Amino acid sequence: MTEPRKRIHLAAHFPGVNSTTVWSDPESGSQTAFSSFVHLARTAERGLFDFFFLAEGLRLREHRGRIFDLDVVGRPDTLTVLNALAAVTDHLGLAGTINTTFNEPYELARQFASLDHLSGGRAAWNLVTSSDAFTGENFRRGGFLPHSERYQRAAETVAAARELWDSWDADAIVADAAGGVFARPEAVRPVQHRGPHHSVDGFFTTPRSPQGHPVLIQAGDSPDGRDFGAATADVIFSRHGTLAAGQEFYRDVKGRLAAHGRTPDDLKIMPGVTVVLGDTAAEAEERAAHIRRQQVSPAGAIAFLEQVWGRDLSGYDPDGPLPREDPDPANTSVTRGRVRHDRDVLATARQWRELAERKGLSIRELVIEVAARQSFIGTPRQVAEAMDAHVQQDACDGFILVPHLTPTGLDEFVDRVVPELQERGVFRTAYTSGTLRGHLGLPHPDRRRAPAAVG
Ligand SMILES: Cc1cc2nc3c(=O)[nH]c(=O)nc-3n(C[C@H](O)[C@H](O)[C@H](O)COP(=O)(O)O)c2cc1C
Repeated sequence: MTEPRKRIHLAAHFPGVNSTTVWSDPESGSQTAFSSFVHLARTAERGLFDFFFLAEGLRLREHRGRIFDLDVVGRPDTLTVLNALAAVTDHLGLAGTINTTFNEPYELARQFASLDHLSGGRAAWNLVTSSDAFTGENFRRGGFLPHSERYQRAAETVAAARELWDSWDADAIVADAAGGVFARPEAVRPVQHRGPHHSVDGFFTTPRSPQGHPVLIQAGDSPDGRDFGAATADVIFSRHGTLAAGQEFYRDVKGRLAAHGRTPDDLKIMPGVTVVLGDTAAEAEERAAHIRRQQVSPAGAIAFLEQVWGRDLSGYDPDGPLPREDPDPANTSVTRGRVRHDRDVLATARQWRELAERKGLSIRELVIEVAARQSFIGTPRQVAEAMDAHVQQDACDGFILVPHLTPTGLDEFVDRVVPELQERGVFRTAYTSGTLRGHLGLPHPDRRRAPAAVG
């Protein structure tokens, strides 16, 4: 008997900031106008996507003391945008990234329960920890929490939020006007949470929402981050989009679930990826090369290298060879506010030099090669085949699509790739559920489940 084929989950990332976004393209629209959010969300809903996704940045990145060009396009408050989108969509999940380091669980639980009510059960919370102290300088306590304690605070934040969400029974409201009873008293319990990071005392303002608990997403990659995701998350937003790296991540994270009493089906893994289409494979490759040159300007290539080198490289020609001097590992503050993935900059520089030499790449060409996200490039049929192969071969359970154009960057995907996926029988042809948990095939949380374990 053949195994049933896994169904693909899809989400739409509103581009916001970073080098993927080509705000300078003549076709690019506003990053802040409501019409842009509406267009992308409605396109995703037309394509029967599981959810719409907003990342979060609480401080503009700075490069050598100046605003980093890639950040200036604007990023309005996540929950404000999602609440507004709830009114103009019917089925699409609405996922917001809100960090657990600078916020309080009572407020967060209330905001996400409210979004879940307003949207009829479509809310999701992407739990991030904003690892850099630089971001914290915008907040009263500054960079008060070291990386090692951020996941402890995140776990306690979720545990407290769950206590609050569980404090109203689903059938608490009776609204019996004749008897003068609005809510059954025994069905609304006070919460008393005391922990190293939080203190909550009192009744929760918000009745239980349609999903019980909003869908929880996690994005973080260290061993602590992976454990926290395995213990807590319904979905992981990963950066491992290639087949081999995806399979390794998938095995690692799904292997951590049993220790938390969970099964592989309880957690969906969805990497961020880009897609470039063409009528022929050659045309798609040509378009992809053009987009990559838009994404990596000559100045952008030098700035990218400076982040790793920790040095002023402005004297270098972007069309010339890589710097002869070595990176300065002690200087990690050239770009502030960026999530660092290069723990060993000397090794990174060595690898890049070898790669550039082997392929005869200039600085800009090298940056184009190493900075690119996982991309599916080809005809709609080729892209559908490749995406399906990734999912069937356990590199992921679906994808968060990161378009380079706002707000029209997913139009072509929805028109041309979604029908191919449907034809392959691996993507829905209609929404069959009203809630995001339903779209993702996730169970409704038990009312009195144990709080999340600390990772
Ligand atoms: C794919 C991905 C997306 C992320 N998106 C955000 C984001 O939008 N906002 C944010 O503050 N942090 C974001 N982060 C940072 C994480 O929340 C986390 O703080 C960081 O990765 C450090 O944790 P780690 O050492 O476990 O990776 C993201 C991380 C990953 C891997």
